[in-house]
Amino acid sequence: MANSRHPGTKTHVPVMPKEVLTFLKISPNGIYVDGTIGNGGHSSLIQSQLSTQGHLIGVDRDGEAIKFCNKALSDNSTRLTLFNDSYHHLDSILDELGISQVNGILLDLGLSSYQLDSKSRGFSYKYNSDLDMRFDIRQKPKAYDILNDSCRDELADIIYNYGEERRSRSIAKRIIMMRPIHSVPELVEAIRLSTPPRNRNKTITRVFQAIRIAVNGELEKLDLFLSSFSKRLCIGGRITIISFHSLEDRKVKHSFKKLKSEREIKILTKKPIVPSPEEILNNTRSRSAKLRVAERVD
Ligand SMILES: C[S@@+](CC[C@H](N)C(=O)[O-])C[C@H]1O[C@@H](n2cnc3c(N)ncnc32)[C@H](O)[C@@H]1O
Repeated sequence: MANSRHPGTKTHVPVMPKEVLTFLKISPNGIYVDGTIGNGGHSSLIQSQLSTQGHLIGVDRDGEAIKFCNKALSDNSTRLTLFNDSYHHLDSILDELGISQVNGILLDLGLSSYQLDSKSRGFSYKYNSDLDMRFDIRQKPKAYDILNDSCRDELADIIYNYGEERRSRSIAKRIIMMRPIHSVPELVEAIRLSTPPRNRNKTITRVFQAIRIAVNGELEKLDLFLSSFSKRLCIGGRITIISFHSLEDRKVKHSFKKLKSEREIKILTKKPIVPSPEEILNNTRSRSAKLRVAERVD
């Protein structure tokens, strides 16, 4: 679907919107945090259930997303506060607002369709651009810093650990041989020359995912958040997390289990919720999504 605000790009369709809303069980006067607001798909639905007494706090590392939501979500009369920051800074964000606890938190991890469709940010292997891949353009490193400054073992570990790609060593070796590597086609060529043609697009996708996760410190930030969010939920408050690969989902699952054993939360999704076949048909990006939900109990 084309979008008038971002001509030439597709609309970011929120994943499992009904399920997220049902599980968040919005109290109209409550305070909700969308920690990865992106293009406001989930947030606009949350806003629609909040009264003028309610408060929506939106966070994203991407300044473009914050600018976009500042316009797109401003028509609603619910209080909206936006932060160009990382969700793992939840404590300082809430402290700044003088808020001790909230009624619900949503994380929809990974990257948005706008980021993936950007022809200049290097997230997609389909476009000829510099290898940047930063969610937050104020920060270092860019993808090409990692690709050009890491030793072979470091690169292989990134590709293996964050991309679960078993040809990581030969890909890393080829990257080192072809350095300096600055553009998307150069990285694609290094992967092409070091892997068999079968399922190559999947291999390329895994390598791009791995480099992106390393550039943005995605798993470290998720760990920091998971170890501290529960105190910020009021009793009965809910956390909903959508992840798109097993590395993230495993972390969410283990952290929920640990918090359950400490009697801080109860888990509302014994098994993760996945999109319906109909949703996957209409929004292929949703196909690998897993939703886990828990409620603060003590
Ligand atoms: C899948 S999109 C969210 C889409 C959003 N739910 C919607 O419906 O429009 C993920 C967003 O998370 C952001 N992001 C990734 N890591 C983040 C972090 N540590 N803190 C805050 N935002 C982050 C990305 O910049 C991206 O905009």
